[in-house]
Amino acid sequence: MNIVVTSLKGGVGKSTTSIYLSAAAVERGYDRVTLIDADPQASSAEWLEMWPIPGITVVEAPSERMATRAMSRIDGLAVVDTPPGNERITQAAVALANAVVIPTRAGGVEYSRVHATIELIPARIPRGVVICAARLGTNDLEGAIAWWKDQKVEIWGVIPERVGIAAGPEARLSREGLNGYDAVLRRALRGWK
Ligand SMILES: Nc1ncnc2c1ncn2[C@@H]1O[C@H](COP(=O)(O)OP(=O)(O)OP(=O)(O)O)[C@@H](O)[C@H]1O
Ligand SMILES: [Mg+2]
Repeated sequence: MNIVVTSLKGGVGKSTTSIYLSAAAVERGYDRVTLIDADPQASSAEWLEMWPIPGITVVEAPSERMATRAMSRIDGLAVVDTPPGNERITQAAVALANAVVIPTRAGGVEYSRVHATIELIPARIPRGVVICAARLGTNDLEGAIAWWKDQKVEIWGVIPERVGIAAGPEARLSREGLNGYDAVLRRALRGWK
């Protein structure tokens, strides 16, 4: 099972989402969880190297070829982090996805970039957006939710803005984040036994 986390847009929360989804899968009892980092920036691989989470294996696969190979060898559950603005790697990854999670933001969103991302996903593959760093109770958030509904794109989660992952000694995942991403994981796993 490959869950691909992707958006052509940079800085929206792909790496944060990938780490939280992997951690939520471990908590859910999956015993072989792999985070495949297909981004040459390797931010999620680096973060997990500094602050390892027991139960998560990291595989760095920063090219189309390496990502495809890593994803086709997966035994268990893999979460795939992808680079921004790289259609080739994105396309290679979504082609082998069982579900695609698209992090986005509320307010100031370039919806065209999100649409371009969605257009790369084969029609048969379940997909949903996750609104990251959301300010609960704001018009921006309400507007974004209404917009996605109108577009008939499923919203798999709304993650509050305090759930980012910090670096440094206080680096850890928040309970609120793990709970939010556990709900996202359940949506992604739906239809898969
Ligand atoms: N829920 C959140 N609350 C607060 N900050 C967040 C949240 N999610 C992500 N962030 C912050 O937003 C920034 C970008 O997040 P992240 O690195 O996960 O995005 P990305 O899409 O992987 O970026 P890139 O395109 O460069 O790979 C980071 O500083 C991260 O800590
Ligand atoms: Mg990233």
